Amino acid sequence: RVYVASKGRAAEACGFHSLTHALPATTGEAELLALVAGLNADRAIHGILVQLPLPKAIDATKVLEAIDPAKDVDGFHPLNVGLLATGQAARAPLPCTPHGALLLARAAAVGLGRGLAGMHAVVVGRSNIVGKPMAQLLLAEDCTVTLAHSRTRDLAALCKSADLLVAAVGRPRMLGADCVKPGAIVLDVGINRVAGEDGKSRLAGDVDFAAAAPLAGAITPVPGGVGPMTIAMLMANALKAAEAAAGRAPAMDAAPGPR
Ligand code: GUN
Repeated sequence: RVYVASKGRAAEACGFHSLTHALPATTGEAELLALVAGLNADRAIHGILVQLPLPKAIDATKVLEAIDPAKDVDGFHPLNVGLLATGQAARAPLPCTPHGALLLARAAAVGLGRGLAGMHAVVVGRSNIVGKPMAQLLLAEDCTVTLAHSRTRDLAALCKSADLLVAAVGRPRMLGADCVKPGAIVLDVGINRVAGEDGKSRLAGDVDFAAAAPLAGAITPVPGGVGPMTIAMLMANALKAAEAAAGRAPAMDAAPGPR
C-alpha cells in the first residue's frame, strides 16, 4: 500500500490520469484477469501495473501475460522481457528498479572518471523484478556480469571482486565491509523494515551502509537511493506508452535505455 500510494502521488504530480484499484486479498484470479482485460481495452489508459506479490491463489505469470505489452509499464510481460534479453531493449519498456539503478550506476561511473564497460558487476539476487533484468541491462553496458544468489559459494569474496555491486536480496544489512572492494560503486536495492534501537520500525537496505560507505567510491542510501529512481522510471514508461499510443515520437528521452 505504501509503494502503490507513492506511485499514485507521483502520477498525479506528473499530471497523469491515475486510477488505483485496491482489491481485497480474497479477489479471485478470474476477477483480476477481467479487470486487466477492461484496462487493456480502455483507450483512456496507457499504462497498467499490477503490484506484486499477488496472493498465492493467483497465478502471477498468467496475470502479467494478460497485460497488453504496449501498456506494460513494469516491463514484466514475457514479450518485453524477451526484447531486453535479446538485445532489443530500445524497443521495450524497461523494468523500473533496475533501470533506475542503471542510471545511478552510469552517473556514479562518470563521477569517478570511469565507464561501466569492462567493469566486473556482481548482482546479488535473481528475482524477475530486479536481479535478472539488472544483469541483462549491465551486460548491455558491456559489464562482465556475475549473477549471485542464496546458494552462491563464498559470496563475500565474490562481492569483494566487484567494481559494481548491486544488492537485491531482501535481507537487512547482509553485505558488510568484507563484501566491498575499495572504490567500488555500490547500489542497494533492498528495502527492509527493521526494528530500530528506539523500538520504532525503520527502513534498512541489504548493505550495511555505515560499514560499506567508507570503502565505496559511490554508494546509494536506503531510503532515498534507488527507490525514488524506480518511481521516476515508472513515470517515464507511462509517458512513453502514452506517446506511442498517440503515434508520437518521445518528446524527451527522460529515461534513456542502453545504447
Ligand atoms: N513489487 C516490488 N517491486 C515491484 C515493481 O517494481 N513492480 C510491481 N508491479 N510490483 C513490485
